[in-house]
Amino acid sequence: MSLALVLVATPALAGRFHPGAPGVGDDYFPLAGNGGYDVSHYDLDITFDPATRDFAGVARIEATATDDLSTFNLDLRGFAIDRLRVSGVRARFHRDGQELTVRPRHKLKDGRDFTVLVEYAGTTGRPTDIEGALYGWVSMPDGSFVANEPEGASTWYPVNDHPTDKATYDISVTVPKGKTAVANGELVGRSTSDGWTTWDWSSDDQMASYLSTASVGDYDLRTYETADGLPIIDAVDRDLAPDADDALARTGQMIGYFESVFGDYPFASFGAIIDDDSVGYALETQTRPIYSGPPSEGTVAHELAHQWYGNAVSPGRWQDIWLNEGFATYASWLWDEHTGGRTTAARFDQLYASVPPGSSLWTVPPGDPTPTNLFAGSVYTRGAMTLEALRAKVGDDAFFTILRQWFERHDDGTAVTADLVALSEEVSGMPLDHFFDVWIYQPSKPTDW
Ligand code: ARG
Ligand code: ZN
Repeated sequence: MSLALVLVATPALAGRFHPGAPGVGDDYFPLAGNGGYDVSHYDLDITFDPATRDFAGVARIEATATDDLSTFNLDLRGFAIDRLRVSGVRARFHRDGQELTVRPRHKLKDGRDFTVLVEYAGTTGRPTDIEGALYGWVSMPDGSFVANEPEGASTWYPVNDHPTDKATYDISVTVPKGKTAVANGELVGRSTSDGWTTWDWSSDDQMASYLSTASVGDYDLRTYETADGLPIIDAVDRDLAPDADDALARTGQMIGYFESVFGDYPFASFGAIIDDDSVGYALETQTRPIYSGPPSEGTVAHELAHQWYGNAVSPGRWQDIWLNEGFATYASWLWDEHTGGRTTAARFDQLYASVPPGSSLWTVPPGDPTPTNLFAGSVYTRGAMTLEALRAKVGDDAFFTILRQWFERHDDGTAVTADLVALSEEVSGMPLDHFFDVWIYQPSKPTDW
């Protein structure tokens, strides 16, 4: 090695360890998630008293460094941190808004596995997202309604809060005896002592943080199996029982129908959380969608379809939210047609003919709705119309192959619109850039595609 090379190499080596990024690089939510590591597992122990809103959490995070890190960030909003350890060793930390910057005693080399223990506590409130909608850990008179989309998981635990870092979860929630705590996955333990009940939930399937929940309320738990043996665990607020039962009556049939169209149901269980205290919307929380009151059949179909499209295959960036909402909306159209309602083509025709050109359906491009318009009607309805238009263009065989392949290829991961364009071109053999451009990106009514 020449002297010149040594001189150049030395400073680079000395500066090898550097801070992990405060975001994953999502243009819509620049501080969501963090750079430099991958979480594989969250183990959360939460104690929550609805009467006082006192909340105490212990988070144990298993992760692997993907860079040489001098510091790394987690996302956490609110709470006081009582103790923070990295791989068992006390670590310094600094907080700035949602960013919790951790400086481990020993720097983390790329590829190194590490654990983070965070003990934190505080009083929960009613957080809102950038549009002003309640989200995250929302305190309710009877407990909590926990719905994190898009980056509200950080309102209740320290997290790499972006769908590109999926992980498995064990969530235990201790609540006053008589309250029920419901999280994702399966109930693996329940014990009561000194007037408190601990509910242990476990999900072995990969999950994006926005799909985690730990809702507390006056729920009855009902457990049964579908004809195919899939465990269903429903949590229904005691005030809502008869209406809620009607809403959930066709769950097993819906799963069977969607499996025949999309492929096998992706997770180990399913169910619903139906709460009377409302945030005004439903969310497809993984394995256990949460509803603000008894849902319509169409809404149950929508949230079920998200288990394939949104949950198994998640958006690689929030701009691509139409890959969730357009697909789930289209799926609810398919269910409606399957059960004797209008055809998907009739719905398309009616919308295309009747919605005036200046309507937000046409002026908001579903492929770039802006961060404050993530859940615009266009994202849902024009997103679904895009799929119907694609079906008409490529034919039924190619279209349903695309739907199934989309799930099969990206299951447990994330994907973006460009991946869908590529898959659709591959399966159909047709150039589709222009098609997706007018349907997804243009702020005007498509006229030729
Ligand atoms: N993804 C949810 C659904 O299926 C909607 C969430 C709406 N969230 C909100 N903050 N408005 O349909
Ligand atoms: Zn949806």
